Amino acid sequence: ALDPIQVMKQEVARAAAARVSSGMVVGLGTGSTTAFVIQFLGDRLKSGDLKDIKGVPTSFQASVLAKKYGIPLVTLDEVETIDLAIDGADEVDPQKNLIKGGGAAHTREKIVDALAETFIVVVDSSKLVDRLGSTFPVPIEVLPMAIAPVSRAVVKLGGQPELRMGVRKDGPVITDQGNMVLDVKFSHIDNPAELERTLNNIPGVVENGIFVGVTDWVLIGEIKDGQPIVR
Ligand code: A5P
Repeated sequence: ALDPIQVMKQEVARAAAARVSSGMVVGLGTGSTTAFVIQFLGDRLKSGDLKDIKGVPTSFQASVLAKKYGIPLVTLDEVETIDLAIDGADEVDPQKNLIKGGGAAHTREKIVDALAETFIVVVDSSKLVDRLGSTFPVPIEVLPMAIAPVSRAVVKLGGQPELRMGVRKDGPVITDQGNMVLDVKFSHIDNPAELERTLNNIPGVVENGIFVGVTDWVLIGEIKDGQPIVR
């Protein structure tokens, strides 16, 4: 039997993929939920239900999946606008603010998601929080030579930084851009917009995973009475 979380991710991904129309430039998010989105977009192209879409990948992994499922890719040098971006998240608050970067892809995700005319977030209900930072640290992409000063600066802001280490790799995670990631735990985030700006002002920080005012729609997958539903 399929894991209910996987079923939920599939259903929410199917609902998001259904919102893509022929001719659109689509931002392709990163993570296990958007992997299903990319797969379903490929299915719709193959069946002829959808024509002539172009994808803007938010990571190396998204571009690998897009190629696998036959979605033509473009870069931001080739298109001026993105019609619709679909991406996952690690936390979503009631104002639709997000924490992203669990896959270390938040820098490119923020560029693509913020540029999109419409940005849809796809999550299962476990990602919903009352306050950002309650379950997930804030990922910060940092230039390797600035890891020490940036760590000290976030401690001054009340955060506890931890250098993200690789799984099945000795040493730190290296992002698609060749940088490192600090996961910073804050005991409480009162003002996400202010923290987003403050963190990005530290020299050496490339981008942090707080997304304020970017999300248009949140599609939430849930299990109700044993059945997967999307709301
Ligand atoms: C990637 O860096 C993250 O921002 C992802 O969007 C996030 O981790 C969601 O991934 P899942 O869909 O696998 O939960």
